[in-house]
Amino acid sequence: MARILLGVTGGIAAYKACTLVRLLVRAGHDVYPVLTASAERFVSAETFFALARKQRAGDPYPHLAQADLLVVAPLTANTLAHIALGLADDLLTEAALAHSGPVLVAPAMNVRMWEHQATRDHVATLRARGVELVGPVEGELAEGEVGLGRMAEPEAIAARIEEILTRGPDGPLLGRRVVVSAGGTREPLDAVRFVGNRSSGRMGAAIAEEARRRGAEVTLLAANLAVPAPRGVVVVETPTAADVEREALARADADVIVMTAAVADYRPAARSSAKRPKDARSWQVELEPTADVLAALGAKRHPGQVLVGFAADGLDPGLERAREKRLSKGADLVVFNDVTRDDIGFDSDENEVVLLSEEGERTVEKAPKHEIAAAVLDEVERLLDAR
Ligand code: CTP
Repeated sequence: MARILLGVTGGIAAYKACTLVRLLVRAGHDVYPVLTASAERFVSAETFFALARKQRAGDPYPHLAQADLLVVAPLTANTLAHIALGLADDLLTEAALAHSGPVLVAPAMNVRMWEHQATRDHVATLRARGVELVGPVEGELAEGEVGLGRMAEPEAIAARIEEILTRGPDGPLLGRRVVVSAGGTREPLDAVRFVGNRSSGRMGAAIAEEARRRGAEVTLLAANLAVPAPRGVVVVETPTAADVEREALARADADVIVMTAAVADYRPAARSSAKRPKDARSWQVELEPTADVLAALGAKRHPGQVLVGFAADGLDPGLERAREKRLSKGADLVVFNDVTRDDIGFDSDENEVVLLSEEGERTVEKAPKHEIAAAVLDEVERLLDAR
């Protein structure tokens, strides 16, 4: 049984939150509803208190202080912005600002509001803070339009709540701070063009997910991921090599840093902020070297830390180069994968790697990326234990 604070904001989906209360109460949870004034234009607060089998308390603060989980469903664009900015001008936003535990929100709004840059920025802020989202989903919206903006179904929200409540952060990496960089950087040439690479971010996302499952506090430095970020990790967008460098070095004191991202080795020396118009002449682009983030981290590495690099190369002489990279960049572990094979690596769900550390080398046979992630983290745990 968990104590759940359920915020309900003013949207047509507010009536569906009644079903959510019923599901949560049936599952044995103690639900305390908090409705905004505009939610009460759709459904009365009394309905929620009756479904939650609760009296509306004169002083709601004891309930707010004790919550194990804050859920806001539906979450309007307006309250979403308030929570992202830390504005506290009603009971719900005050509770959100005072609450320090997990937060799950189920946004519901018009598709154009959902897609507006302002909302995207606020969503990124919330995600970076560890707030989890369920939905919105595609479907018919209040105004008769169709698009992404409908609140997730109460059953889906209830299922996510169970998952959050049962997710025991009690694995072997409990209390460890793990930073994983994933994806491939894009170095702008002008306002619309970039120099990039084929890395999808699958391998890094799998490592972040596995580290989280093992109880670590995970930050994912996301460079243009083609896959969704795993749940429960803090996502920091790092689209360029300079972004990866800044954000990784800001976290150089982490217990474990895994650099899976394909960070550009070169970026255009000049970047135009406008789109370069087409003409008949050829376009000479000068590329300048970027900083090597792994090497910079290796130079700052603290004794208790485990630093992991990836080496994407052909088998021969790639393996030998991977051995050299481990030493020259100061990494404890290098994960080598052969990018010339098209059945594994970049766009594939599978990988086959060689783990290179001071103690020796071990091949992990071709397997789904989550199994490779588990093998890499087994090795990381072994190195942490040896510290
Ligand atoms: N890396 C980095 N910063 C860069 C380039 C690479 O931190 N500017 C990291 C990658 O995240 C990876 C490791 O260094 O963990 C090795 O990357 P890889 O591309 O295999 O090697 P490079 O050092 O770039 O050398 P080369 O491209 O010549 O193989």
